[in-house]
Amino acid sequence: MVKLTVNGQAREVQADPEKPLLWALREDLAMPGTKFGCGAGLCGACTVLLDGQPVRSCQTPIGSVGESAVTTIEGVAAQPAGPAVLAAWAELDVPQCGYCQAGQIMSASWLLSEMPNPGDEEIDAAMSGNICRCSTYTRIRKAIKAAAAARAGEQA
Ligand code: FES
Ligand code: FES
Repeated sequence: MVKLTVNGQAREVQADPEKPLLWALREDLAMPGTKFGCGAGLCGACTVLLDGQPVRSCQTPIGSVGESAVTTIEGVAAQPAGPAVLAAWAELDVPQCGYCQAGQIMSASWLLSEMPNPGDEEIDAAMSGNICRCSTYTRIRKAIKAAAAARAGEQA
């Protein structure tokens, strides 16, 4: 049995500590928002936050998580930039097929919590681990900037 803290809640998973966090979330904790893409650490579809930092849940054994706080797409609204990112994603209609978007949103939320007003190069660098087969990169960039502007307005 492995203890995890997911989206602020203490959870227990009856599984091998080597089980990837991605599958514990999806199969054991009924949180299907985190997606399986490549399973090899290459696409970013499975991105979740561990103590606020993006990690690939397909490459993260649950036994390695310890007391770190796991945040998934189901809990992203409680992250500092989460609500602004979610609102901008909806407003600019970012997703196409949608498959990569949970991971994109997690990385964008992390980026804006670290860097409130990123430029194109900074966005591209921070988001480079999240691949989108539908090539929504232009809208992702716009949405990150819109979320940054909205947050700046809130804080003004
Ligand atoms: S599914 Fe984890 S990086 Fe692709
Ligand atoms: S929206 Fe289809 S893979 Fe990104």
